[in-house]
Amino acid sequence: MSGGEFEPRIVVFACNWCSYAGIDLAGTSRIKYPHNVRIVKVMCSGRVHPEMVLKALEEGADGVLITGCHPGDCHYISGNYKAMRRYLLLKKLLGELGLSDRVRLEWVSASEGERWARVSSDFVEHIRKLGPLRLKEVMEGE
Ligand code: FES
Repeated sequence: MSGGEFEPRIVVFACNWCSYAGIDLAGTSRIKYPHNVRIVKVMCSGRVHPEMVLKALEEGADGVLITGCHPGDCHYISGNYKAMRRYLLLKKLLGELGLSDRVRLEWVSASEGERWARVSSDFVEHIRKLGPLRLKEVMEGE
């Protein structure tokens, strides 16, 4: 950031079979999406443990987007339902710190490059409005 507009740092967990493929499709189709995202490929959204999200925020991410296959489409049958349950728990936990708005769960299929562009742009703009996170300061109560 050089005195200009705040550019959020966003970590995206993307499942290999749907969301990562959808992001890849956006790339190969030259569909524009924000450059602020750092993609972390996981085999399934159900593999995203809350600790991984907290670690990303602690390490400097301003927001975390978890993406997976649509309900009913998970390649491991119920991984995305597990992701949903963990997400709700995580939102509760982060709510205690006033940070529940920093994390979002979205479904993006392998054929939804356009949807990925919308979802990621919307989340980046949402975090931009919230401003930088500075989690260490929040944790230390400053
Ligand atoms: S493989 Fe995509 S959410 Fe499970």
